Amino acid sequence: MKILGVGSGAREHAIAKKLSLSIYNPKIYWIGENKNPGIVRICMKSGGEFIQGSTTDPEVVSSTAKRFNVDFVFIGPEEPNFHAVPDHLERLKIPCIGANRSVALIEMSKAEMRRLQWEYDIPGKLLFQTFKSAEEAYLVLEKYADSLTWLQNVALKPARQAGGKGVKVVEDRQIYLHEEKQKFKSKHVSWLEGYMRGYGDIEDKILVEENVWGPEYTLQCFTDGTTVLGMPMVQDNKNAHEFDIGTETGGMGSISGPGMCLPFLTIREYEDSIRIIGKMVSAIQDKTGKRYHGVVAGQMMLTEVEGPTIIEMYSRLGDPEALNVLHTLKTDLVEVCLAIIDERLSKIRLEFEDKAVVVKAIAPKGYPDNRSLAIGHPVAVDEAKVSEIGCELFWASCNLHEDGRITTAGSRLVEILAEGETLPVASAQIEKAIPYVKLTDGWGLFHRSDIGSEALLKRREELAERVRRLYLYRVEKGTVGKRVDWLPGVGKVDPVSILKNGLRR
Ligand code: GLY
Repeated sequence: MKILGVGSGAREHAIAKKLSLSIYNPKIYWIGENKNPGIVRICMKSGGEFIQGSTTDPEVVSSTAKRFNVDFVFIGPEEPNFHAVPDHLERLKIPCIGANRSVALIEMSKAEMRRLQWEYDIPGKLLFQTFKSAEEAYLVLEKYADSLTWLQNVALKPARQAGGKGVKVVEDRQIYLHEEKQKFKSKHVSWLEGYMRGYGDIEDKILVEENVWGPEYTLQCFTDGTTVLGMPMVQDNKNAHEFDIGTETGGMGSISGPGMCLPFLTIREYEDSIRIIGKMVSAIQDKTGKRYHGVVAGQMMLTEVEGPTIIEMYSRLGDPEALNVLHTLKTDLVEVCLAIIDERLSKIRLEFEDKAVVVKAIAPKGYPDNRSLAIGHPVAVDEAKVSEIGCELFWASCNLHEDGRITTAGSRLVEILAEGETLPVASAQIEKAIPYVKLTDGWGLFHRSDIGSEALLKRREELAERVRRLYLYRVEKGTVGKRVDWLPGVGKVDPVSILKNGLRR
């Protein structure tokens, strides 16, 4: 068997490793923008090859698949899905684990995702409105926030998938009155507009959503369009620094287990979340007439208004979340892929080891806001020592050169994984491995020591408990998902109907 993988981060390193362990003993071929040393090694060991090339050009990916005559292609990141790589492969009759462009819209456009959720009345919704520019969004906020209370506490996001970055929560309308905050606002407006200028592929530019609070989690599932099989819940930690401080990143580390739930969430919340994701898959297929083959994930939050609530959808595995679930997956990943391709996923028993798993990313300073500073630093990693300590290292954003040197490529450099009886044990294990990752030119690296620690888990548990108490009270009173607002001179109104008629009256 021959498989072609797409993408070059730590998620893809983890996918390559899992595929290579299959009883099918496949030859692993890979295409990625950066030469990931971990994936290169796996390809060579299996008798395959690593090709450095574009992952978003459908022609490049499909000609590579044809050149090696592979049995199927496994797409790691979201951008190839957004660029219709799976669609192109499908036309050439090359099986692919990857959401085609139409269904991947639930990730690419956060606005379309929300519209779909409202249209099909899928639980876990948030009030939202879209705008053509950030300036227009701020103007509407200023105009209506006096009369519509949900507008007084909102999240402003780029309407296109931005790798978890760029969300600005406007909790306080007084933001407009203070000079300092005005400056902050303008900075955010230009960032949002600059970001969206890079993408002509969707109409909505800015999404304003009611702001919610609660513990976040990612629920990743395999789907063949009919069956949706859930993996263990994972919590990603997006802020750059300890105790959720600092800019949002693609993810500084993740926790999962033991078991299918996170320690601060319940089995009922897991089951409700799976149902929501299943409904999203059915809805997008119904809307587009296309089958969903691959991975679908809900990046979710337990909220007071709706319980399990969708924040974003992924049309692929998360990074670092993929590392957690693939580490404990007992079922042969190639078997799962073949079952997706043949649409017989309902016959597969997806099994996972009952372990706690922690992943921590190590990134060069400069990431994520000044990436140019984080590029080109020479790397020295003592992989033997990391594994002697009982951890596993996955290469992420870096480049392997012809002469064997490895340099940083601007994002997370490596992700280190450890398993344990408990999350704090696994977290402490990783700390022992951190000193064995270095940059030899003296440039700094950073990571979050708190991921999986007792202290952070306690905070998550307290937060979940507070939200759950309020949510269960709503369940008891029959007010789940209900919001009441008021307008001067009108009185009590249903913000949902206002939302449908638009805010710009
Ligand atoms: N962990 C965030 C992402 O995969 O987008």
